[in-house]
Amino acid sequence: MGRAPTSQLIHGDCREVLSKLPEGSVSCCITDPPYNYEFIGREWDHTEITRRLDRIQNSTTLVKNIPYGSGLAGGIRNERWYERNRENILEYRRWCGEWGRGLLRVCKPGAVVAVFNSTRTSAHVQVALEDAGFYARDCLVYRRHAGIPKGLNLEKKLSKMGDKQATKWRGWHTCFRNEWEAIVVLQKPLINNYMQTVEQTGLGPFKTIRADGSFQSNILEGYSKGDDEEFDEHCTIKPLVLMKKLIEFFVPPGAQHTVLDPFAGSGSTLVAAEELGYPSIGIEIEGRYVELARRRLAQVGRRRSESLFADVG
Ligand SMILES: C[S@@+](CC[C@H](N)C(=O)[O-])C[C@H]1O[C@@H](n2cnc3c(N)ncnc32)[C@H](O)[C@@H]1O
Repeated sequence: MGRAPTSQLIHGDCREVLSKLPEGSVSCCITDPPYNYEFIGREWDHTEITRRLDRIQNSTTLVKNIPYGSGLAGGIRNERWYERNRENILEYRRWCGEWGRGLLRVCKPGAVVAVFNSTRTSAHVQVALEDAGFYARDCLVYRRHAGIPKGLNLEKKLSKMGDKQATKWRGWHTCFRNEWEAIVVLQKPLINNYMQTVEQTGLGPFKTIRADGSFQSNILEGYSKGDDEEFDEHCTIKPLVLMKKLIEFFVPPGAQHTVLDPFAGSGSTLVAAEELGYPSIGIEIEGRYVELARRRLAQVGRRRSESLFADVG
């Protein structure tokens, strides 16, 4: 039985941490950055943030918990509103470029970067990473169950306002029921071609054959969270089975391949890498999530030593 893979969790802003990691040391990056671009790069006591939070608290009409800049929340759709919306997304794209450039430096040639994002913002992430020097390869559809459209329900809104004709608008919302998330897939440029890159870094092609002999498509469905994956402390945990599948698509087996997640959250990518036997590095800006990820990784370690003990016994 080989040694357990090493997982390293670093507490900090990935834009800074990435600049300290060794160049060309990472074989794959699977990550899930925040999609809500509105408050990125701002201090939490920024007056604009305080103003908008107050506005949400006191409003009876705004859709709660959805960022103002997402286009789903309320607000008068005047020129300023659209301008602000545009500024927000461009700011998000610039921010993606900042970590994207750091990421390019630490990746090996041929390394794949797979980034979860919303259907509205994924194009910006892709363009930012292309500008950073990656080459766009695909956009995977991660299909998952979703309940109701999150936008405005016209009938409900009008009937609250006392409109007797409200039922005319039954079934009309300001957006669809969102049933998929995008995973944009990019690659660090190869060394001349696939053969040379495979020879020198062991990377480049995707694993496309499935257990039943069929070929993997770019629509991923049927991956749900296990019963033990409900950690109340982090609301955007990705299913472990999905993270494992993504790693298996892009990284051939081998402890020489390090998997990176610069937005580690509760550590799903790291736990998946650890369970598959790859070393990993996670970066997370929030101390409480670093602790949560550490606890999850420790659980994997415990499970492994129990099974080792069982093997020996
Ligand atoms: C969408 S969550 C990731 C969830 C993760 N996929 C999981 O399964 O738990 C994004 C994470 O990125 C972290 N984050 C945001 N900005 C960051 C930055 N500049 N550097 C590192 N982490 C950051 C947030 O604190 C959050 O935990």
